[in-house]
Amino acid sequence: MGNHHNNEGSKEFYRKEYLLNDGQQLIIRTPEPGDAEGLIDQMQAADRETKFLARESDEFNFTVEQEREFIKNRTADEDGRFLIGELDGRIIANCSVGLVQNKKRYLHRAEMGIAVVKDCWNKGIGKKLMQECINWCKEKGVEQLELEVVTQNNRAVSMYKNFGFEIYGTKKHALKYSDGTYADEYYMILFLDSTKPE
Ligand SMILES: CC(C)(COP(=O)(O)OP(=O)(O)OC[C@H]1O[C@@H](n2cnc3c(N)ncnc32)[C@H](O)[C@@H]1OP(=O)(O)O)[C@@H](O)C(=O)NCCC(=O)NCCS
Repeated sequence: MGNHHNNEGSKEFYRKEYLLNDGQQLIIRTPEPGDAEGLIDQMQAADRETKFLARESDEFNFTVEQEREFIKNRTADEDGRFLIGELDGRIIANCSVGLVQNKKRYLHRAEMGIAVVKDCWNKGIGKKLMQECINWCKEKGVEQLELEVVTQNNRAVSMYKNFGFEIYGTKKHALKYSDGTYADEYYMILFLDSTKPE
C-alpha cells in the first residue's frame, strides 16, 4: 500500500524527456525552488485562461518566496507527487496527485489535478501528465484515482474518459462565478486493476 509517514526531507527527483509530435522536447520533472517564478507565471496563466479551475484569476498571489517554500514542501511530501512540464525552458504545465487523506481508511484513494497553458494545448502534454499521475498511483498501490471536473469542460472530460475514468456523481452549483452564474462538477473515478465495484 502507498503508506508513508513522516519521511521529512527525503526527496526523490523525477525527470523524463519526451519528443512531441511537432518535434519539441517536453521535460516532465520535479520542480526545484528556482522554478518558483516560472511556476507562478504558469499557474496565473492557467487561472486566467479557463473558467474550469478553482480560482478567479486574481486569487493566486503567492510571492516568489512563498512559492519556493511551497515547492520544497510538496517535493518532500511522499504522500503525493507534484510535477511540472517544461518546453524550451518555460514551465507550461503542472500536475499533482496525492492521497486523499493519510488515514488508514483512505490510503486506497488518491486525487489529482492538471493544468496546461492554453498555447500548449493539443500537443499531447495533458495525456503525458495524466499518465504520470496514474503511474504514481500504481507504484504506491493506490486502488482508485479520483477527480472533480466542471461538467462543461469537454476537453478534460473526454481525456479522463479515454483513460478509463467514469462519472460517479454530479455536484450541483459546485462553482459560482463572479457574474452570478454557476457550474456543476462531475465526480470521476478510475478504478485501478480489479478494484472496480459491481
Ligand atoms: C484538459 C487539459 C489538461 C488537456 O491538456 P492537453 O495538453 O491539451 O491534452 P492533450 O493534447 O494531451 O489531449 C488529451 C485529450 O484531450 C481531449 N481533447 C483534446 N482536445 C479536445 C477537444 N477539442 N474536444 C474534446 N476533447 C479534446 C482528447 O481526449 C485528447 O486525447 P486524444 O488526442 O487522444 O483524442 C488542458 O486543456 C487544460 O489544462 N485545460 C485547462 C485546465 C483544466 O481544465 N484542467 C482540468 C481541470 S479538472
